[in-house]
Amino acid sequence: MTDLYQLMMNRRSVRNFEDRPIPEDVVQKLLDAANNAPTGGNIQPISIIAVTGEKARKELGDTFGSQPWVAKAPLSLIFCIDFHRLKRWASLLDTEFKGEMSLLHFMISYADLMCAAQNVVILAEGLGLGSVYIGTVQEAVDEVREHFEMPEYVLPLMVLCIGYPKSVPKYIPKLKTDDIIHYGKYRVGSDDEVRKMFDDKYGDLDDNLDNYLKRAFVESVEAGEQSASWADIEKIKKEMEKLAIKNNAQFLFDFRYPQNIMVELNEHIISSFKKAGFDFLGSVDTSKGGDR
Ligand SMILES: Cc1cc2nc3c(=O)[nH]c(=O)nc-3n(C[C@H](O)[C@H](O)[C@H](O)COP(=O)(O)O)c2cc1C
Repeated sequence: MTDLYQLMMNRRSVRNFEDRPIPEDVVQKLLDAANNAPTGGNIQPISIIAVTGEKARKELGDTFGSQPWVAKAPLSLIFCIDFHRLKRWASLLDTEFKGEMSLLHFMISYADLMCAAQNVVILAEGLGLGSVYIGTVQEAVDEVREHFEMPEYVLPLMVLCIGYPKSVPKYIPKLKTDDIIHYGKYRVGSDDEVRKMFDDKYGDLDDNLDNYLKRAFVESVEAGEQSASWADIEKIKKEMEKLAIKNNAQFLFDFRYPQNIMVELNEHIISSFKKAGFDFLGSVDTSKGGDR
């Protein structure tokens, strides 16, 4: 395996996969790496559904219509918070697990889930594979739960698509490491400093829109090569004109992730959580159990 630092610096999200299956022993290693990840209290509150095979891949891909790489990946892992198994075990052993009502259990479990997923990302990279997260599964929780016959208390919250890369994005803009690190205490930057961080990251929107889009959204553009309907720059430009997008922040928060829609989605997400039996706001009997 190459130097781990170099491997992490070279890693890019891959959305262009070869039509080549991943050998079973390699898949097993990836799954073992997920299972051996750090997990709060060693509770292991997650399950993973492995999706392989043409039919299953196509069906999963249909859920993410605008992301054609999902169907093309030879392996997709659906990472779920699984309180079903813990609740059953607790009840079999004459106690109760109320993770579905605890925001703290939820947050730790989601961190566990991402630790497991990121273990897979790094091992996959080391084994010559590429991967991409599909966070939009969080908007399709109901459909995914139904399709994969998940019982109550199981929440699919991340998908990771894995395969041998056909192409890897060459460049992805990032903030400088120093921009996100605060030594000792948090240092609030000046307006100019904040502006410069993001100007350096994204470049100037006025400079050249085509270059800007290619640079800032190279991952979309690369993927667009596989799917003409996706990441069509001309379409993006027209939409931006209509919305009078003038700078990078407006592009991100008015166009790519319109903030009113992000907030409105709360209702949908909370409803999916409730359908799965999760309710952090529900009342809980605190009379049982010891002190922490
Ligand atoms: C939580 C999370 C959700 C993501 N969701 C998606 C997604 O739905 N579709 C996609 O194509 N990429 C998705 N990505 C990948 C990001 O777009 C990618 O990590 C980002 O552009 C930075 O590129 P890099 O991974 O090459 O550094 C996601 C990444 C993370 C961490």
